[in-house]
Amino acid sequence: MNRRWWQDAVFYQVYVRSFADADGDGIGDLAGVTSRVPYLAGLGVDALWLTPFYPSPQADHGYDVADYRDVDPVFGDLGDFDALLSAAHASGLAMIVDIVPNHTSSEHPWFQDALRSAAGSPERARYVFRPGRGRDGAEPPNSWRSVFGGSAWRQVPDGEWYLHLFDVGQPDLNWENPEVGDEFEDILRFWLDRGVDGFRIDVAHALVKQQGLPDYRRGEPVPHWDQPEVHDVYRRWRKVLDSYAGDRMAIAEAWVDAPEAMALYVRPDELQQAFNFHWLEAPWSAAAFRRVIVETLAAVDPVDSPPTWVLSNHDVDRHVSRYGGGARGLSRARAATLTMLALPGSAYVYAGEELGLPQVDVPEKARQDPGWLRGGRAGRDGCRVPIPWSGIAPPYGFGPDAGAPTWLPQPPEWAGLSVAAQDRDPESTLTFYRKALRARRDVVSSLGQRIELLDTAPGVLAFRREPGVVCVINCGSRRARVGQYGEPVIASGSADQVASGWLPGDTAAWFRDA
Ligand code: NOJ
Repeated sequence: MNRRWWQDAVFYQVYVRSFADADGDGIGDLAGVTSRVPYLAGLGVDALWLTPFYPSPQADHGYDVADYRDVDPVFGDLGDFDALLSAAHASGLAMIVDIVPNHTSSEHPWFQDALRSAAGSPERARYVFRPGRGRDGAEPPNSWRSVFGGSAWRQVPDGEWYLHLFDVGQPDLNWENPEVGDEFEDILRFWLDRGVDGFRIDVAHALVKQQGLPDYRRGEPVPHWDQPEVHDVYRRWRKVLDSYAGDRMAIAEAWVDAPEAMALYVRPDELQQAFNFHWLEAPWSAAAFRRVIVETLAAVDPVDSPPTWVLSNHDVDRHVSRYGGGARGLSRARAATLTMLALPGSAYVYAGEELGLPQVDVPEKARQDPGWLRGGRAGRDGCRVPIPWSGIAPPYGFGPDAGAPTWLPQPPEWAGLSVAAQDRDPESTLTFYRKALRARRDVVSSLGQRIELLDTAPGVLAFRREPGVVCVINCGSRRARVGQYGEPVIASGSADQVASGWLPGDTAAWFRDA
């Protein structure tokens, strides 16, 4: 395989609402991101992924799109988008945007037309409308549940029901209707023509539903995830991507159970990447990490596609907190990150993880995640709290001091976590990320794509990449001997101990042949 820019790129996920607020309304925006491009280039990432900024009622913070070819005024306008893309490219950063093909917003003109049209009309055929069951069709058409809680069906005044696997404001599109595929090809081209380097595809495994929309059956595959026909969509998209110069790419967000199912999305005529959520789902355990690495590499090898790795995003608890929180959670998070950055393939970093931000327990009255509002689950607000840039009190430089309060409240104890507070501190997590990303460019990117797992003590995982780099992570609590692996390159914790031949618990390090 020829070397492609994305195959070992580090992507940085910008959750636009929470990144930087240029206009002072308490919500991040595109001009805010542009103002921070020098920071991102200095961090050492290769590419940006922007979460949805399209016109939207924001029922699911932009994952409910009302117009796929514009910018929501809350985030700016198309001029701001073009300015950001140019600034990113001028700084050597690629940029991909989020595409949301499974559902539109209920405010999208197509859905509004469908509501105004009769059952059986072409307007309704763009979505998944069905008659109800039971007496007078008063029961939903099947037993499917919304990911955010409750039935996945909502009845409209004439008695039909529409499918929404997510919020009621996110009606599912009918991908069996050729009009839908044509429309999305056109949307892809709209953004490719503007110069984006690719797409992150939202719930990529959901577009096609099982024929007949059968009820769930215990122990059987869920009838609305990962249907074989969904791959036809991505074969078509691949042709679109390949018709542009500049090595455009796309990554599937497909939460599938088996690594082999994930690998189907990255077959040679489909997408370039798929998120490897098995890495993110692994508990803090050398054996679990080892298993995921082995299974992932085995799954992608036959399709000749480089793997991806990710530890945090806007849908899951931040990894500092998943690994136990506090100083120990932070040590572990840094160690897992350093390990991820040593693996072959591409890595995704979520805004704020370079500051070691923990999951926040957002006060209930301030929560906005539809998952919380519909189902009472703790929700995802806690990983979406606006980034602290500077200063000793909210908004910590997120927006102008005299601006509106940030859309989610920032904790009063975040002063020490801000970019300014960490910028020059040699021990800070920010400094560690900068060093790790530089070391990855200097050392890892020239290495071979294969790894050799080494024999280690229990609780320790070590692998070698030729020629001559070893990564070791110690998930145990007792120190492990590492003097045999060569010269230390970088450690996620105490460099002194590593230099004297010992790797403390909850720590990772890279070594180079002496
Ligand atoms: C996955 C996105 O990452 C998530 O934030 C969103 O709620 C769902 N897809 C629905 O679009």
